[in-house]
Amino acid sequence: MKQRLLFLGPPGAGKGTQAEQLAADRNLLHLSTGDLLRAEVAAGSALGQEAEAVMARGELVSDALVLAIVRSRLEAQAASGGGGWLLDGFPRNLAQAESLGVLLDELQQPIELAVLMELDDAVLIQRLLGRGRADDNETVIRHRLEVYREQTAPLIRYYQSKGLLQAVEANGTVETIAERITALLG
Ligand code: AP5
Repeated sequence: MKQRLLFLGPPGAGKGTQAEQLAADRNLLHLSTGDLLRAEVAAGSALGQEAEAVMARGELVSDALVLAIVRSRLEAQAASGGGGWLLDGFPRNLAQAESLGVLLDELQQPIELAVLMELDDAVLIQRLLGRGRADDNETVIRHRLEVYREQTAPLIRYYQSKGLLQAVEANGTVETIAERITALLG
């Protein structure tokens, strides 16, 4: 079974929902950069203070900051004997993808599958407005979607060209979508 995975997709596609469940079922390290950043904000750390306003605007936190978070987690897991992982919301642009590639080469842990979760904007926006997180108001959601299209969507081609990308229709029940993803894992 494939066990080094990343989830790509627009805000509200259900990456976090699916990643949490799959990681628990398959004993994978779930690395959500959004969750890790929100934990830093809640703790009031220097890193959290740097990230908070950027996240509230729906823009991307600096690559260096996010990379440091991911590197420390993946290195710690490799040092403690390895195992699978699921990256959720990272990488978010080509620079992050290139840096991740270098890190994974160092760790000799290549990505096995990039899952693209696809969903119409109207459904995404309704889902996020229903959730009501600090960055879930309509203006910020629309900006997050723009940032996704401009900076993150180019990763679709990037992972397609490496033969790693599989797309999943992300409309339907949580269970139905989980079955679609599981079918890709081999
Ligand atoms: P992040 O936390 O990654 O947010 P996001 O990508 O905008 O994704 P969301 O959490 O909004 O959506 P999701 O696809 O995970 O869907 P979810 O499962 O939650 O990033 C937040 C911010 O942090 C960024 O804007 C940026 O500032 C910063 N950041 C994070 N990573 C970064 C990086 N790598 N580089 C730089 N900056 C970074 O579901 C959404 C809702 O829909 C929930 O209410 C859920 O219950 C519901 N739902 C899920 N599935 C279904 C379903 N099948 N049917 C109905 N409802 C559903």
